[in-house]
Amino acid sequence: GLENSVKIASNRLPVSVSLDDEGQYAFSRSSGGLVTGLGGLKGLDLEYTWYGWPGIEIPHRDLQQVTRKLREEHSAVPVLLDQQLAERYYDGFSNSTVWPLLHYQLDKVSYDEDTTAAYRKANQVFADTIVRDLKEGDLVWIQDYHLMLLPELLRQRAREMKVSIRLGFFLHTPFPGEEFFTTLPSKNEILDGILGSDVIGFHTDEYRRHFLDACSEVLGLRLFGDKLKVKDHEVTIQTLPIGIEPSDFQKRLDKVEVQEMIRSTRNNFSGLKILVGVDRLDYIKGIPQKLQAMDEFFQIHPDQIGRVVLVQVTIPSRANLELNQKLRTEVQELVGKVNGKYGNVNYVPVHFLYKTISPDELTALYAAADVCFVSSTRDGLNLVSYEYVACHDHDCSADTPPGVLLLSKFAGASSTLKGCLLVNPWDKNHCADAVAQALTMEPGEAMERMKDMRSTVDQQTSFKWAVNFLRALDQKEQEAVDSS
Ligand code: UDP
Ligand code: G6P
Repeated sequence: GLENSVKIASNRLPVSVSLDDEGQYAFSRSSGGLVTGLGGLKGLDLEYTWYGWPGIEIPHRDLQQVTRKLREEHSAVPVLLDQQLAERYYDGFSNSTVWPLLHYQLDKVSYDEDTTAAYRKANQVFADTIVRDLKEGDLVWIQDYHLMLLPELLRQRAREMKVSIRLGFFLHTPFPGEEFFTTLPSKNEILDGILGSDVIGFHTDEYRRHFLDACSEVLGLRLFGDKLKVKDHEVTIQTLPIGIEPSDFQKRLDKVEVQEMIRSTRNNFSGLKILVGVDRLDYIKGIPQKLQAMDEFFQIHPDQIGRVVLVQVTIPSRANLELNQKLRTEVQELVGKVNGKYGNVNYVPVHFLYKTISPDELTALYAAADVCFVSSTRDGLNLVSYEYVACHDHDCSADTPPGVLLLSKFAGASSTLKGCLLVNPWDKNHCADAVAQALTMEPGEAMERMKDMRSTVDQQTSFKWAVNFLRALDQKEQEAVDSS
C-alpha cells in the first residue's frame, strides 16, 4: 500500500460541467480514452484528488456550489481558466499545435505565439492550484499533452517550498519521430517541462524511443541504463500501455436490460452482418478512410449489398475547431454517398450516429457486432478495440458472435492485440479485402484470435497500469532515501 497522498492532474476531469437551458449545472461523464483508462484508479486502496479543468468558465457566484459537488462526489478540484484563456490553451496550442504534431499531421499544425503563451499561462494556473494543497511526500501524476510544462513548474515550486514530492507524467498520445517533433519552435521548453518528472510513461516502445531520440537531438541527453540524467535528478522512462476494466463490461453484459438490447439490435439487423465503429469525431480516427473502404467493399462485392451494415457511432469532440467542423461535413457527405449508392427503401448500409451513447448501449452494440473496425491513421493506444474484445467471449452465444477486430497498424493497440486483422487505413483496396476476410472468417479461427486478445485485455487492466506506474514513482522515493 502507498502511504502517500496521490494527486492526479489532467486537463479533463472525469466529469465535465455544463449549463443547461434553465441555468442549472449539469455534470456529465467526460468522453474519451483518458477518462476510461484512469477509471482503474477507483480500484486502488488509496486516497486521491483529481485536478482538472471543468470544461466551462464558472461564474464567481456559483463557484462554491460547483466546487463542493466536485469534491464530494468526484474527489475532484476544478482548475479555473477563464473562457479566453481556455480557448487559446485548449482549442489553440493543445489541440491546434500539439495534437496534430503528436499525430504526424504537420499540414494541420499551426504555430502561434499567443496560444503558446496561453499554454504557459494555463500550466501555471494548474501549478498554482495544486501547490495550494501540496504536502511533503505527495505523489503527483500528470496526464497528457495539455500539461507538458507542469512537471518542471511543480518541481521548481516544491523546491522553493522545501517539500519533497515525486512527479510522474504519462503521455496518452503517440510521440512522433524526432524529425516531426523538432519542427516545434518551443521544443526545448516542452522537453524541459516533461523532464521535470521522476517517471515518464508511454504506451509503446516506439513512442518511448522517439521521445529519447528527441531528448538526444534537442538537449544532447543520453540514457544511462534506463534513466536520463537531467540537471539535478534522474528520470526513468517506461513503456506501460494503459488498459480498461474488463469486469465493468462483464457486469453490464450480465444485466437483463443489456441482453435485451443485444437481442433487439440483432433482430433489427436480422440477416445482416454488423460492423461497428466508435470514434470521437477527430481526423486521427480515419473515419473518411473507413467509409471509403466500405464503398470499395460494396463495389468489389456487390453480392454483399443488403447483407452488411456499418453502425458508426461518432462522439462529438472539440467542436470549436474548424477542422473538426469541416470533418463532420466531409463524413456526413461520405455517409450520404455510400447510402445513396448502395441503399434502398429497406436497407441503409451505414447507420451514422453523431452523439454520445450510454455505457449500456455501447456494451450491447459491441457485443452484437460481428466485426469492429478501427481505422485510425494514428492513435495513442485506442481503447475502443479493448472494449470490443472485452464484450466477446470465446464461448459465444447465438446473440453474440465470436467477433473479429479490424485494427489499424497505426494504433498503439496493434502492438498489444495480436489476434486482430491488421489494416492500413490508407489502402482502401486492402481494407475492403480485410472486411471481406473478417466477414467470412471461420468461427473457430475467430474464437482463437479472440481468446488471444481477450487474455491481453484481461491482464493489461487499467487498475494494473495505475498500480505499476504509482509503484515506479514510489520506488523513486526509496532510491532517493537509499542514496542519501
Ligand atoms: N466513449 C465515450 N462516449 C461514447 C462512446 C464511447 O466516451 O458515447 C468512450 C469509449 O468507451 C472509449 C473512449 O470513449 O473508452 C475512446 O477511447 P479511445 O482510447 O479509443 O480514443 P480517444 O477518444 O481517447 O482518442
Ligand atoms: C484523448 C486525449 C485525452 C482527452 C480525450 C478527449 O484521449 O488523449 O487527453 O481527454 O481525447 O478529448 P477532450 O478534448 O474532449 O478532452
